[in-house]
Amino acid sequence: MKISISMTLCLSVLASVGRRGVVSAFTATVPTVTSATASAARNARYSTSLSAEGGGGGRVSAAQLDKDILKKTDAASNGSAQKQEKLDTNPPKGTRDFYPPDMRLRTWLFDQWRSVASQYAFQEYDAPVLESSALYTRKAGEEVTQQLYAFADKGDRPVALRPEMTPSLARMVMAKGGSKGLPMPLKWYSIPQCWRYERMTRGRRREHYQWNMDVWGVDGVEAEAELLSAMVTFFRNVGLTADDVGVKINSRLVIGEVLTELGIPEEKFAATCVLVDKLEKLPLDAVQSDLEELGLSREVVEKLTSVLTNNSVDDIAKVLGDDSAAVKQLKELFALCESYGISDWLLFDASVVRGLAYYTGVVFEAFDRRGELRAIAGGGRYDKLLETFGGEPTPAAGFGFGDAVIVELLKERNILPSFDSTGVDTVVFAMRRELYPVAVQVAQTLRNAGQSVDVVLEDRKPKWCFKLADRIGANHCCIVAPQEYENGEISIKDLDSGEQVAVKIDGGLADWAAAAENHTSQ
Ligand code: HAM
Repeated sequence: MKISISMTLCLSVLASVGRRGVVSAFTATVPTVTSATASAARNARYSTSLSAEGGGGGRVSAAQLDKDILKKTDAASNGSAQKQEKLDTNPPKGTRDFYPPDMRLRTWLFDQWRSVASQYAFQEYDAPVLESSALYTRKAGEEVTQQLYAFADKGDRPVALRPEMTPSLARMVMAKGGSKGLPMPLKWYSIPQCWRYERMTRGRRREHYQWNMDVWGVDGVEAEAELLSAMVTFFRNVGLTADDVGVKINSRLVIGEVLTELGIPEEKFAATCVLVDKLEKLPLDAVQSDLEELGLSREVVEKLTSVLTNNSVDDIAKVLGDDSAAVKQLKELFALCESYGISDWLLFDASVVRGLAYYTGVVFEAFDRRGELRAIAGGGRYDKLLETFGGEPTPAAGFGFGDAVIVELLKERNILPSFDSTGVDTVVFAMRRELYPVAVQVAQTLRNAGQSVDVVLEDRKPKWCFKLADRIGANHCCIVAPQEYENGEISIKDLDSGEQVAVKIDGGLADWAAAAENHTSQ
């Protein structure tokens, strides 16, 4: 037995040593991080772990890993007294564990997103977290493609963990024949986990969940207005107001028109937008010289940067003229949003361009009005993405909304609900071991009546059982005691009022569960 275990281990170790390029491709793309930094408390709640760095973190080569495995295997199979190195229990840097309270928060957030999506008649879809790297090989200098977790799989295929959902969605639409194969318009949503090798700051992590809402097949701003309204509905549902959050709106057509007027070829459009987006993070000089390197003269760059300082559609109209398609589009969108009743939340801001190359028209970004946090959500129109994959031109617009910044904001405003309660209604326990089968029957009756029931699995004293009920926030305890059981009854204690009643096991128990359900839902 011992021999066969170490043989298997040795074989798998040899197999991994022989794997071509598996880790080298990974380290070529992802910078090696050697220092084991922040030590996120493992049992920290979701909210805490969102702001703390994920900890752990040092990356090692495949060869080193294999040596470590060999060392540990040898020590284990020799039965040596040598003390085992303790496992680093931190999750990889920038990632999170979700303990049950964290999961309750996450589920609550996802439920909020799902409920708005369904209110607006969006259908849920999903795709694999692992995609072909080719999906992200865009050449406009975007940050997101430089932050790729990319590597070769065991079959030497270049793959990547998805940094965003939009390319996967485009692939899925294309796989079904686009607008010819799918009934348009599509209104689809998903909540994927996305991976980006980010420099971590508040609200930016190496993995995050992102609510995606996209409309395909609609070329008018009706799509953007519907999307913006859905986003605002979510903000309202979680208790935020237009004083807390705003959504900046612009159109890339503005930049497009300036570039066309100045005779800049269309192929420079995407790269120009990506560079202009960096104005927020980099000094003006640095961006200007990058733009010049791209082939834009100083005059063009100056005109562009001056247009970006406008913060009303009327001011932009003065620059571009009333016939400008950009101006018409923006006016139409703001008028439509008036009908949706969301104008208070929106403002025009010519400096919002967004960092992704594929946007072609309206772009928008939700932000906290105090200006303390990174962008809450962002999106826009991307009518040409399918074409870049060799598909038919198909209009599309959408947004991505991460889980990190919004939780920070809700915490800060003190409007996050409490996630202390486990949702368990009743704890059932038997006073004697031989009555345990009765406790199980009681639990099953209550579960069948729709309750969440925890039956005490071991022999425990009543005091322990009541403490458990208190800790998990249960409303009732059902006690199976010898005397009552002789009369075909059990005792039920209301943990709020302290009242205790005897209930017949046959019939009475189900009636009691139904009455308790009515009581809590009132
Ligand atoms: P994005 O601006 O890259 O757009 O990301 C959208 C949102 O995802 C951000 O506003 C933020 O809430 C969240 N997010 C992004 N990166 C991180 C990170 N490292 N840590 C935490 N949260 C993050 C897109 O991804 C587009 N694909 C959105 C879209 C959908 N456009 C059209 N449809």
